[in-house]
Amino acid sequence: MRAWLLNRTGPPDILSLTDVAAPEPGPDDVAIRVETIGINYAEVLSRKGLYGWAPERPYIPGMEVAGRIEAMGEAVQGRQIGERVLCGMQYGGYAERVCVTANRALSVPADFSMDEAAAFGVNFMTAWVALMEMARLRPSDRVAITAAGGGVGTAAVQIASAFGCDVVALAGADEKLELARSLGAAHTLNYRASDFEQRFDRVTVDRQLDVVLEVVGGDVFRACNGRLANFGRLVVVGYAQLDYSKWNPLSWWRAWHDAPKLKVMDAAVASTGLLATHIGYLLPDEERLLSVWSALTEFVEAHGLRPIVGSTWDFEELPEAHRFMESRASTGKLVVRVVTG
Ligand SMILES: NC(=O)c1ccc[n+]([C@@H]2O[C@H](COP(=O)([O-])OP(=O)(O)OC[C@H]3O[C@@H](n4cnc5c(N)ncnc54)[C@H](OP(=O)(O)O)[C@@H]3O)[C@@H](O)[C@H]2O)c1
Repeated sequence: MRAWLLNRTGPPDILSLTDVAAPEPGPDDVAIRVETIGINYAEVLSRKGLYGWAPERPYIPGMEVAGRIEAMGEAVQGRQIGERVLCGMQYGGYAERVCVTANRALSVPADFSMDEAAAFGVNFMTAWVALMEMARLRPSDRVAITAAGGGVGTAAVQIASAFGCDVVALAGADEKLELARSLGAAHTLNYRASDFEQRFDRVTVDRQLDVVLEVVGGDVFRACNGRLANFGRLVVVGYAQLDYSKWNPLSWWRAWHDAPKLKVMDAAVASTGLLATHIGYLLPDEERLLSVWSALTEFVEAHGLRPIVGSTWDFEELPEAHRFMESRASTGKLVVRVVTG
Protein backbone atom coordinates (compact mmCIF):
# COMPACT_ATOMS: atom_id res chain seq x y z
CA MET A 1 0.00 0.00 0.00
CA ARG A 2 1.02 3.65 -0.28
CA ALA A 3 1.67 5.73 2.85
CA TRP A 4 3.27 9.06 3.72
CA LEU A 5 6.37 8.45 5.85
CA LEU A 6 8.17 10.88 8.13
CA ASN A 7 11.87 10.00 8.08
CA ARG A 8 13.16 13.37 9.33
CA THR A 9 11.51 16.47 10.78
CA GLY A 10 11.20 19.53 8.57
CA PRO A 11 8.92 21.44 6.16
CA PRO A 12 5.90 19.78 4.46
CA ASP A 13 8.02 18.35 1.59
CA ILE A 14 9.89 16.19 4.09
CA LEU A 15 6.88 13.82 4.01
CA SER A 16 7.61 11.05 1.55
CA LEU A 17 5.06 8.92 -0.34
CA THR A 18 6.35 5.35 -0.05
CA ASP A 19 5.24 1.78 -0.78
CA VAL A 20 5.05 -0.14 2.49
CA ALA A 21 3.60 -3.48 3.59
CA ALA A 22 -0.13 -3.24 4.36
CA PRO A 23 -0.93 -4.05 8.02
CA GLU A 24 -2.91 -7.22 8.78
CA PRO A 25 -5.56 -7.32 11.52
CA GLY A 26 -4.82 -9.17 14.78
CA PRO A 27 -7.58 -11.35 16.36
CA ASP A 28 -9.42 -8.32 17.88
CA ASP A 29 -8.78 -5.88 15.04
CA VAL A 30 -10.54 -4.63 11.95
CA ALA A 31 -8.68 -3.57 8.80
CA ILE A 32 -10.04 -0.35 7.28
CA ARG A 33 -9.71 0.62 3.61
CA VAL A 34 -9.10 4.35 4.10
CA GLU A 35 -11.24 6.72 2.04
CA THR A 36 -10.63 10.04 3.80
CA ILE A 37 -8.04 11.40 6.23
CA GLY A 38 -8.60 14.35 8.61
CA ILE A 39 -5.59 16.64 8.99
CA ASN A 40 -4.86 17.86 12.54
CA TYR A 41 -2.61 20.67 13.75
CA ALA A 42 -0.80 18.17 15.99
CA GLU A 43 0.44 16.43 12.82
CA VAL A 44 2.02 19.70 11.67
CA LEU A 45 3.73 19.91 15.08
CA SER A 46 4.80 16.26 14.80
CA ARG A 47 6.32 16.87 11.38
CA LYS A 48 8.27 19.80 12.81
CA GLY A 49 9.49 17.72 15.77
CA LEU A 50 7.45 19.75 18.29
CA TYR A 51 4.96 17.11 19.42
CA GLY A 52 5.68 15.22 22.62
CA TRP A 53 3.44 12.24 21.77
CA ALA A 54 5.16 11.40 18.44
CA PRO A 55 6.79 7.96 18.15
CA GLU A 56 10.36 7.40 17.02
CA ARG A 57 10.98 8.09 13.33
CA PRO A 58 10.57 6.78 10.72
CA TYR A 59 6.81 6.46 11.12
CA ILE A 60 3.56 7.09 9.27
CA PRO A 61 1.88 10.19 10.78
CA GLY A 62 -1.91 10.66 10.76
CA MET A 63 -4.36 10.69 13.66
CA GLU A 64 -7.76 10.08 12.08
CA VAL A 65 -9.27 8.34 9.11
CA ALA A 66 -12.64 7.27 7.75
CA GLY A 67 -13.23 4.30 5.49
CA ARG A 68 -14.80 0.85 5.22
CA ILE A 69 -14.02 -2.35 7.06
CA GLU A 70 -12.42 -4.75 4.58
CA ALA A 71 -11.16 -7.54 6.88
CA MET A 72 -11.36 -8.52 10.55
CA GLY A 73 -9.73 -10.82 13.10
CA GLU A 74 -11.35 -14.10 14.17
CA ALA A 75 -12.44 -12.77 17.60
CA VAL A 76 -14.34 -9.76 16.21
CA GLN A 77 -18.10 -10.00 16.45
CA GLY A 78 -20.98 -7.82 15.36
CA ARG A 79 -19.13 -5.91 12.63
CA GLN A 80 -19.77 -6.02 8.89
CA ILE A 81 -17.43 -6.01 5.92
CA GLY A 82 -18.13 -2.76 4.06
CA GLU A 83 -19.31 -0.93 7.24
CA ARG A 84 -18.49 2.79 7.24
CA VAL A 85 -16.25 3.61 10.19
CA LEU A 86 -14.05 6.39 11.50
CA CYS A 87 -11.25 6.11 14.00
CA GLY A 88 -8.59 8.05 15.85
CA MET A 89 -5.01 6.90 16.48
CA GLN A 90 -1.72 8.37 17.64
CA TYR A 91 -0.10 7.83 14.22
CA GLY A 92 -0.41 5.62 11.10
CA GLY A 93 -3.38 7.32 9.40
CA TYR A 94 -1.64 8.73 6.30
CA ALA A 95 -2.03 5.38 4.56
CA GLU A 96 -4.35 3.42 2.28
CA ARG A 97 -5.14 0.88 4.99
CA VAL A 98 -5.07 0.90 8.80
CA CYS A 99 -5.79 -1.75 11.43
CA VAL A 100 -7.28 -0.90 14.85
CA THR A 101 -9.02 -2.72 17.69
CA ALA A 102 -12.63 -3.25 16.58
CA ASN A 103 -14.06 -1.15 19.47
CA ARG A 104 -12.11 1.87 18.28
CA ALA A 105 -13.67 1.72 14.80
CA LEU A 106 -16.71 3.92 15.41
CA SER A 107 -19.74 3.79 13.11
CA VAL A 108 -20.08 6.87 10.91
CA PRO A 109 -23.31 8.80 11.67
CA ALA A 110 -25.76 7.73 8.95
CA ASP A 111 -26.16 11.03 7.11
CA PHE A 112 -22.49 12.09 7.16
CA SER A 113 -20.44 11.98 3.96
CA MET A 114 -17.00 10.34 4.16
CA ASP A 115 -15.44 13.84 4.10
CA GLU A 116 -17.53 14.77 7.13
CA ALA A 117 -16.67 11.47 8.81
CA ALA A 118 -12.94 12.29 8.67
CA ALA A 119 -13.68 15.81 9.98
CA PHE A 120 -15.73 14.71 12.96
CA GLY A 121 -13.99 12.52 15.53
CA VAL A 122 -10.94 14.39 16.81
CA ASN A 123 -12.36 17.92 16.55
CA PHE A 124 -15.75 17.20 18.10
CA MET A 125 -14.43 14.87 20.80
CA THR A 126 -11.78 17.45 21.76
CA ALA A 127 -14.36 20.24 21.96
CA TRP A 128 -16.80 17.98 23.83
CA VAL A 129 -14.29 16.79 26.43
CA ALA A 130 -12.93 20.33 26.98
CA LEU A 131 -16.35 22.00 27.29
CA MET A 132 -18.59 19.34 28.77
CA GLU A 133 -16.24 17.17 30.85
CA MET A 134 -13.48 19.56 31.90
CA ALA A 135 -15.30 22.94 32.08
CA ARG A 136 -18.68 21.40 33.06
CA LEU A 137 -20.48 23.81 30.76
CA ARG A 138 -23.88 25.19 31.77
CA PRO A 139 -26.35 26.65 29.26
CA SER A 140 -26.20 30.00 31.07
CA ASP A 141 -22.41 30.31 30.60
CA ARG A 142 -20.64 32.88 28.46
CA VAL A 143 -17.99 30.91 26.53
CA ALA A 144 -14.97 32.21 24.61
CA ILE A 145 -13.43 30.00 21.92
CA THR A 146 -10.08 30.79 20.29
CA ALA A 147 -9.06 29.84 16.73
CA ALA A 148 -12.84 29.66 16.38
CA GLY A 149 -12.76 29.23 12.58
CA GLY A 150 -10.55 26.10 12.70
CA GLY A 151 -11.33 22.42 13.12
CA VAL A 152 -11.67 22.27 16.91
CA GLY A 153 -12.97 25.86 16.96
CA THR A 154 -15.93 25.31 14.60
CA ALA A 155 -16.87 22.17 16.54
CA ALA A 156 -16.72 24.04 19.86
CA VAL A 157 -18.74 27.03 18.59
CA GLN A 158 -21.46 24.67 17.39
CA ILE A 159 -21.58 22.62 20.60
CA ALA A 160 -21.62 25.63 22.94
CA SER A 161 -24.19 27.53 20.84
CA ALA A 162 -26.48 24.51 20.57
CA PHE A 163 -26.21 24.05 24.35
CA GLY A 164 -27.59 27.58 24.79
CA CYS A 165 -24.39 29.42 25.77
CA ASP A 166 -23.49 32.99 24.84
CA VAL A 167 -20.49 32.38 22.56
CA VAL A 168 -17.62 34.83 22.03
CA ALA A 169 -15.59 33.64 19.02
CA LEU A 170 -11.98 34.79 18.66
CA ALA A 171 -9.85 34.21 15.56
CA GLY A 172 -7.05 35.68 13.50
CA ALA A 173 -9.05 36.63 10.39
CA ASP A 174 -12.42 38.24 9.69
CA GLU A 175 -13.66 35.47 7.36
CA LYS A 176 -13.10 32.93 10.16
CA LEU A 177 -15.22 35.12 12.43
CA GLU A 178 -17.99 35.27 9.83
CA LEU A 179 -17.96 31.47 9.75
CA ALA A 180 -18.13 31.33 13.57
CA ARG A 181 -21.07 33.76 13.55
CA SER A 182 -22.90 31.60 10.99
CA LEU A 183 -22.44 28.66 13.42
CA GLY A 184 -24.03 30.50 16.34
CA ALA A 185 -21.40 32.82 17.90
CA ALA A 186 -23.05 35.96 19.27
CA HIS A 187 -19.83 38.06 19.50
CA THR A 188 -16.67 37.98 17.38
CA LEU A 189 -13.17 39.40 17.95
CA ASN A 190 -10.11 39.37 15.70
CA TYR A 191 -7.03 39.01 17.93
CA ARG A 192 -4.72 40.19 15.17
CA ALA A 193 -6.49 43.58 14.95
CA SER A 194 -4.59 46.51 16.52
CA ASP A 195 -7.54 47.44 18.79
CA PHE A 196 -8.21 43.85 19.95
CA GLU A 197 -7.80 44.58 23.69
CA GLN A 198 -10.16 47.58 23.60
CA ARG A 199 -12.78 45.60 21.65
CA PHE A 200 -12.45 42.70 24.09
CA ASP A 201 -13.00 45.16 26.96
CA ARG A 202 -16.16 46.45 25.30
CA VAL A 203 -17.55 42.92 24.85
CA THR A 204 -16.78 41.95 28.45
CA VAL A 205 -17.47 45.24 30.26
CA ASP A 206 -20.83 44.06 31.60
CA ARG A 207 -20.20 40.36 31.63
CA GLN A 208 -16.95 38.42 31.86
CA LEU A 209 -16.18 34.91 30.61
CA ASP A 210 -17.42 31.84 32.46
CA VAL A 211 -15.55 29.39 30.24
CA VAL A 212 -12.67 29.68 27.75
CA LEU A 213 -11.51 26.99 25.33
CA GLU A 214 -8.00 28.17 24.47
CA VAL A 215 -5.71 26.78 21.74
CA VAL A 216 -3.35 29.65 20.82
CA GLY A 217 -1.21 30.68 23.84
CA GLY A 218 0.74 33.93 24.35
CA ASP A 219 -1.21 37.21 24.35
CA VAL A 220 -4.46 35.44 23.40
CA PHE A 221 -4.22 33.20 26.48
CA ARG A 222 -3.40 36.20 28.70
CA ALA A 223 -6.27 38.29 27.26
CA CYS A 224 -8.81 35.52 27.91
CA ASN A 225 -7.46 34.58 31.33
CA GLY A 226 -7.59 38.22 32.40
CA ARG A 227 -11.31 38.41 31.61
CA LEU A 228 -12.46 35.28 33.46
CA ALA A 229 -15.45 35.77 35.72
CA ASN A 230 -15.38 34.50 39.32
CA PHE A 231 -15.87 30.72 39.18
CA GLY A 232 -14.64 30.85 35.55
CA ARG A 233 -12.82 27.87 33.99
CA LEU A 234 -10.17 28.18 31.29
CA VAL A 235 -9.35 24.96 29.44
CA VAL A 236 -6.04 24.84 27.56
CA VAL A 237 -6.39 22.51 24.59
CA GLY A 238 -3.37 23.67 22.56
CA TYR A 239 -0.80 26.42 22.06
CA ALA A 240 -0.63 26.80 18.27
CA GLN A 241 1.49 29.93 18.53
CA LEU A 242 4.40 28.13 20.21
CA ASP A 243 7.17 27.49 17.70
CA TYR A 244 10.74 26.84 18.64
CA SER A 245 13.86 25.56 17.01
CA LYS A 246 16.52 23.49 18.72
CA TRP A 247 19.21 25.76 17.24
CA ASN A 248 17.66 29.13 18.07
CA PRO A 249 17.94 30.22 21.75
CA LEU A 250 15.71 33.25 21.06
CA SER A 251 12.90 30.85 20.09
CA TRP A 252 13.33 29.03 23.45
CA TRP A 253 12.77 32.31 25.23
CA ARG A 254 9.70 33.10 23.04
CA ALA A 255 8.28 29.62 23.69
CA TRP A 256 8.75 30.04 27.45
CA HIS A 257 7.14 33.51 27.32
CA ASP A 258 4.14 32.34 25.24
CA ALA A 259 3.46 29.10 27.13
CA PRO A 260 0.23 29.41 29.18
CA LYS A 261 1.03 30.21 32.81
CA LEU A 262 -1.05 30.85 35.89
CA LYS A 263 -0.21 31.95 39.43
CA VAL A 264 -2.19 29.79 41.83
CA MET A 265 -2.63 32.71 44.27
CA ASP A 266 -4.17 34.85 41.47
CA ALA A 267 -6.59 32.01 40.70
CA ALA A 268 -7.39 31.64 44.40
CA VAL A 269 -8.13 35.36 44.79
CA ALA A 270 -10.37 35.42 41.68
CA SER A 271 -11.85 31.93 42.25
CA THR A 272 -10.99 30.72 38.76
CA GLY A 273 -9.61 27.47 37.45
CA LEU A 274 -7.09 26.50 34.80
CA LEU A 275 -7.61 23.08 33.23
CA ALA A 276 -5.89 21.33 30.35
CA THR A 277 -6.79 18.24 28.37
CA HIS A 278 -5.45 15.83 25.76
CA ILE A 279 -7.84 13.39 24.11
CA GLY A 280 -4.98 10.98 23.34
CA TYR A 281 -5.75 9.55 26.79
CA LEU A 282 -9.09 8.28 25.44
CA LEU A 283 -7.40 5.86 23.05
CA PRO A 284 -6.25 3.24 25.58
CA ASP A 285 -9.43 3.72 27.66
CA GLU A 286 -12.11 2.19 25.44
CA GLU A 287 -14.86 2.45 28.06
CA ARG A 288 -14.35 6.18 28.41
CA LEU A 289 -13.93 6.63 24.65
CA LEU A 290 -17.27 4.93 24.00
CA SER A 291 -19.04 6.88 26.72
CA VAL A 292 -17.79 10.22 25.29
CA TRP A 293 -18.73 9.05 21.79
CA SER A 294 -22.23 8.07 22.82
CA ALA A 295 -22.95 11.37 24.64
CA LEU A 296 -21.45 13.38 21.78
CA THR A 297 -23.27 11.63 18.92
CA GLU A 298 -26.59 11.83 20.79
CA PHE A 299 -26.11 15.61 21.21
CA VAL A 300 -24.94 16.14 17.62
CA GLU A 301 -27.90 14.21 16.24
CA ALA A 302 -30.42 15.99 18.50
CA HIS A 303 -29.14 19.41 17.39
CA GLY A 304 -28.45 18.57 13.74
CA LEU A 305 -24.76 19.57 13.98
CA ARG A 306 -22.28 18.73 11.21
CA PRO A 307 -18.51 19.09 10.98
CA ILE A 308 -17.31 21.93 8.74
CA VAL A 309 -15.13 20.64 5.90
CA GLY A 310 -13.18 23.71 4.79
CA SER A 311 -11.12 22.14 2.00
CA THR A 312 -10.39 18.77 0.37
CA TRP A 313 -7.12 17.51 -1.07
CA ASP A 314 -6.02 14.48 -3.08
CA PHE A 315 -3.84 11.90 -1.32
CA GLU A 316 -0.85 12.94 -3.43
CA GLU A 317 -1.32 16.58 -2.28
CA LEU A 318 -1.13 15.81 1.46
CA PRO A 319 2.02 17.94 2.07
CA GLU A 320 0.16 20.88 0.47
CA ALA A 321 -2.63 20.45 3.03
CA HIS A 322 0.03 20.71 5.78
CA ARG A 323 1.40 23.87 4.20
CA PHE A 324 -2.10 25.37 4.01
CA MET A 325 -2.89 24.59 7.67
CA GLU A 326 0.41 26.10 8.77
CA SER A 327 -0.27 29.28 6.76
CA ARG A 328 -3.26 30.04 9.08
CA ALA A 329 -5.45 30.53 5.99
CA SER A 330 -7.53 27.38 6.53
CA THR A 331 -11.06 27.29 7.90
CA GLY A 332 -12.84 24.24 9.27
CA LYS A 333 -11.29 20.83 8.70
CA LEU A 334 -8.80 19.90 5.96
CA VAL A 335 -9.74 16.51 4.51
CA VAL A 336 -7.53 14.38 2.26
CA ARG A 337 -9.32 11.96 -0.07
CA VAL A 338 -7.59 8.65 -0.64
CA VAL A 339 -10.41 7.46 -2.86
CA THR A 340 -11.75 10.44 -4.78
CA GLY A 341 -15.50 11.04 -4.98
N1 LIG B 1 -5.60 18.64 23.46
C1 LIG B 1 -6.09 17.88 22.50
O1 LIG B 1 -6.49 16.73 22.73
C2 LIG B 1 -6.20 18.46 21.11
C3 LIG B 1 -6.87 17.77 20.10
C4 LIG B 1 -6.99 18.38 18.85
C5 LIG B 1 -6.42 19.63 18.63
N2 LIG B 1 -5.74 20.25 19.63
C6 LIG B 1 -5.17 21.60 19.45
O2 LIG B 1 -6.23 22.46 19.07
C7 LIG B 1 -5.76 23.47 18.20
C8 LIG B 1 -6.59 23.47 16.92
O3 LIG B 1 -6.30 22.27 16.20
P1 LIG B 1 -6.95 22.03 14.76
O4 LIG B 1 -6.40 20.74 14.27
O5 LIG B 1 -8.42 22.23 14.84
O6 LIG B 1 -6.29 23.20 13.88
P2 LIG B 1 -6.98 24.52 13.27
O7 LIG B 1 -7.59 25.30 14.39
O8 LIG B 1 -7.87 24.13 12.16
O9 LIG B 1 -5.72 25.28 12.70
C9 LIG B 1 -4.79 25.87 13.55
C10 LIG B 1 -5.19 27.35 13.82
O10 LIG B 1 -4.40 27.82 14.90
C11 LIG B 1 -4.35 29.23 14.82
N3 LIG B 1 -2.99 29.72 15.09
C12 LIG B 1 -2.68 30.60 16.04
N4 LIG B 1 -1.38 30.87 16.02
C13 LIG B 1 -0.85 30.16 15.01
C14 LIG B 1 0.47 30.03 14.48
N5 LIG B 1 1.51 30.72 14.98
N6 LIG B 1 0.65 29.19 13.43
C15 LIG B 1 -0.39 28.48 12.91
N7 LIG B 1 -1.65 28.57 13.38
C16 LIG B 1 -1.88 29.41 14.42
C17 LIG B 1 -4.81 29.62 13.41
O11 LIG B 1 -6.12 30.18 13.54
P3 LIG B 1 -6.23 31.79 13.69
O12 LIG B 1 -5.64 32.36 12.43
O13 LIG B 1 -7.69 32.03 13.81
O14 LIG B 1 -5.46 32.13 14.92
C18 LIG B 1 -4.88 28.29 12.67
O15 LIG B 1 -5.83 28.30 11.64
C19 LIG B 1 -4.27 23.19 18.00
O16 LIG B 1 -3.55 23.99 18.91
C20 LIG B 1 -4.14 21.72 18.33
O17 LIG B 1 -2.84 21.37 18.74
C21 LIG B 1 -5.62 19.68 20.87
